[in-house]
Amino acid sequence: MKPSADGGTSKVRRALCPGSFDPVTNGHIDIISRTASLYDEVVVAVFINQSKSGLFSVDERRDMLVEVTSEWPNVTIDVFEGLVVDYCRVHDIPVIVKGLRAVSDFDYELQMAQMNRGLAGVDTLFMPTNPEYSFLASSLVKEIAKWGGDVASLVPPNVLKRLKERTGSAQ
Ligand code: PNS
Repeated sequence: MKPSADGGTSKVRRALCPGSFDPVTNGHIDIISRTASLYDEVVVAVFINQSKSGLFSVDERRDMLVEVTSEWPNVTIDVFEGLVVDYCRVHDIPVIVKGLRAVSDFDYELQMAQMNRGLAGVDTLFMPTNPEYSFLASSLVKEIAKWGGDVASLVPPNVLKRLKERTGSAQ
């Protein structure tokens, strides 16, 4: 609790942006930055999925996120393994913010949101992605980069550099 303007106390408003972030894209940054303007504290948490090997390690994904969110002092980066609602409970975070690119995202996101609400009372808020990024996905970025396509407009410069190094693409 922190003192509020009227002399009372107000609860710190915290939100969680969970995801795989393999790697973080401009679409993710759009959602994270807008969430940072709405909440006191935003935790961006990289989910460790043991059954799926990514292009980047979890540490690399975290490092890229730390670099690209440095301009927002209320954003911190973490990694987690397990249920997202357990992470929320341990860190006293009542709400998950998810970006919605298109209707195709909605079915699965709604299912997860309702499950998380049922499991632990954690709410999910859906934020429409900037239309500029409605087609953008980490999986597409990786595939394009792998074949030497130009992804410079889709990811921040530090991610572009790492993608080039990792995929050996020359662009
Ligand atoms: O970037 P992604 O891959 O779409 O992120 C999905 C993620 C990590 C947010 C989701 O899979 C998740 O919350 N995983 C944690 C495990 C969990 O809580 N599963 C039950 C969801 S109802």
